[in-house]
Amino acid sequence: MTASFDEVHNRSLTDPEGFWSEAAEELSWSRRWDSVLERCDVPSGYRWFAGGRLNTCYNCLDVHVENGRGDQAALIYDSPVTDTTRRFSFRELRDEVATFAGALAAQGVGRGDRVVVYMPMIPEAPIAMLACARLGAVHSVVFGGFAAPELAVRIDDAQPKAIVTASCGIEGQRVIPYKPLLDEAIRLATHKPSTCFVLQRPQETASLVEGRDLDWSEAIAGVEPHDCVDVEATDPLYILYTSGTTGEPKGVVRDNGGHAVALKWTMRNIYGVEPGETYWAASDVGWVVGHSYIVYAPLLNGNTTILYEGKPVGTPDAGAFWRVIEQHRVSAMFTAPTAFRAIKREDPNGELLSRNDLSEFRTLFLAGERCDPATLEWARDKLGVPVIDHWWQTETGWAICANCIGIEMLPVKAGSAGRPAPGWDIRAVDEETKEVARNETGALVAKLPLPPGTFPTLWNADRRFVETYLTQYPGYYKTADAGHVDADGYVHIMARTDDIINVAAHRLSTGEMEEVLAAHPDVAECAVVGVADDLKGEVPVGFMVLKAGVARETGGIVSEVVSAVREKIGPIACFRQAAIVERLPKTRSGKILRGTIKKIADGEEYKVPATIDDPAILDEITAALRGIGYPG
Ligand code: COA
Ligand code: AMP
Repeated sequence: MTASFDEVHNRSLTDPEGFWSEAAEELSWSRRWDSVLERCDVPSGYRWFAGGRLNTCYNCLDVHVENGRGDQAALIYDSPVTDTTRRFSFRELRDEVATFAGALAAQGVGRGDRVVVYMPMIPEAPIAMLACARLGAVHSVVFGGFAAPELAVRIDDAQPKAIVTASCGIEGQRVIPYKPLLDEAIRLATHKPSTCFVLQRPQETASLVEGRDLDWSEAIAGVEPHDCVDVEATDPLYILYTSGTTGEPKGVVRDNGGHAVALKWTMRNIYGVEPGETYWAASDVGWVVGHSYIVYAPLLNGNTTILYEGKPVGTPDAGAFWRVIEQHRVSAMFTAPTAFRAIKREDPNGELLSRNDLSEFRTLFLAGERCDPATLEWARDKLGVPVIDHWWQTETGWAICANCIGIEMLPVKAGSAGRPAPGWDIRAVDEETKEVARNETGALVAKLPLPPGTFPTLWNADRRFVETYLTQYPGYYKTADAGHVDADGYVHIMARTDDIINVAAHRLSTGEMEEVLAAHPDVAECAVVGVADDLKGEVPVGFMVLKAGVARETGGIVSEVVSAVREKIGPIACFRQAAIVERLPKTRSGKILRGTIKKIADGEEYKVPATIDDPAILDEITAALRGIGYPG
């Protein structure tokens, strides 16, 4: 008899060692672990699978070739923007990865060295990631939509021996040169990599710096393929930078052992897919979803994964997803609600769905931002399959809450991200870490230890890791999301408790944008607030108070700060609007009332805060917002 979800969840908390060691048996280890969960003197206070040795790339590729999956498609590159489809079997992908690992090794990259990957959605991106894993090197992928200064900060923090890039990305109809951004980032950074590998795409030829840059195809010509290098389970596999509460991005570290164990386990148990089936995460390798569910988890589980270089709309139309699902026989798909809002906006009646046969498609998973019930219901009604919202973070690497359909399909409640997944003990608490009543909003925290696959620390920042996540609620991980747990134990994620906003499911820090605005010579004070947007969920809007005596035309200042955010953070910030105001609303102690500004912009009812120093300012803010079209 199969166990119920409650039984599985209970066991994961009462016997975590038994639970996760069973999952670990599914992998190939070169040395068995000494302990499943060891309490010790590391920043988190515990480690998973200490003493165990394995190679993540071996478990993603070689093991499947050895076990008879060599001819099965491992990766399908589907690129409507270049009109290309390319299939790599597990054997072919292993060979490509081993060859690029050889090229990295020939440049002196070895176990523990960092490699920054700044690439568009082309097969060479996962090939570079897996090649690092093969060598025991630590990759740090930086999303292509970030500007040169953001890349420079990451280069300085990770100190890579090599950087891997491509000549360009393609965004819809536009070719975006990547190499000039990389050159500028290296110019800005203090740390200089010794080698840059550049994949030349036909759409753009990048100029190469003599003595530093290597053309990818020349670099791999004639090199000896490299075998897998065993690493400790607790060795880092990758660093992924994410927005934090200040302009300093946080380097989330992922280890090898716990990550492989947890991710492989999720494919069957959360996503309900069996080895051999096709799984598609329509995300980008630059985000955690791309790391976990375009690259590692599907390959660990022997699934075919899809690397899609396109958008939900415009490449060529709002039926693009349905074409991919049919053409590659996708069983389960994972994307962000914003992608479905874009499709719904262009094809509200779902007419384009009739062009394709989606009979093999079983489940749609959504995450990355709050999923509004209307979008969930539209997707469910049009596709006729369950639509599962699930909640996770870069830090966690996999879902904190989900409807684990591979264990037991529970009723779907639109507006909730489901129940805590096995391994997760989630509570809504007050400031004293006391659990609040059911349905009451609190800070969402997870009881320690977190399950395998979650981050053991921040790169080069153990103290920041402890202070940011483990100090405020002793014994618990602070998720920095607020929400409530309902009577059935379903978790509802309502808002961040810090300055993070989600723009088209991309995580951004308003504090970082404020730093850019504040650096403008005419700006005395500023605030950036995430306001509701029909398509992107939230978009940032800036408010600026000018320095006394500034007599310039205000439109010029606004366009300068808009350009500055684009140049310093990147187009992905979607910072397009700002208003100039006489004053900012503040409490008597001087705290800017960003929450009240947001409510006014969103057209929500709000109470004038008792602590406000001058309520009349709110009328000025309302007028300024009207001037730029809010509430929309
Ligand atoms: N490289 C360079 N630039 C990029 C980029 C990349 N990889 N990705 C996005 N950009 C640029 C875009 O071209 C755009 O630039 P612009 O201001 O010059 O037009 C800007 O960053 C904003 O991009 P985006 O937020 O993607 O907006 P969009 O209008 O191009 O597309 C959606 C809107 C909804 C279709 C798109 O955001 C989407 O598909 N979202 C899905 C989100 C997702 O997959 N999230 C991953 C987590 S699951
Ligand atoms: P990221 O680290 O980019 O994955 O962003 C993580 C943040 O996105 C979380 O802390 C949440 O604020 C938000 N998020 C992710 N998934 C969901 C979800 N299913 N529902 C609500 N918010 C979500």
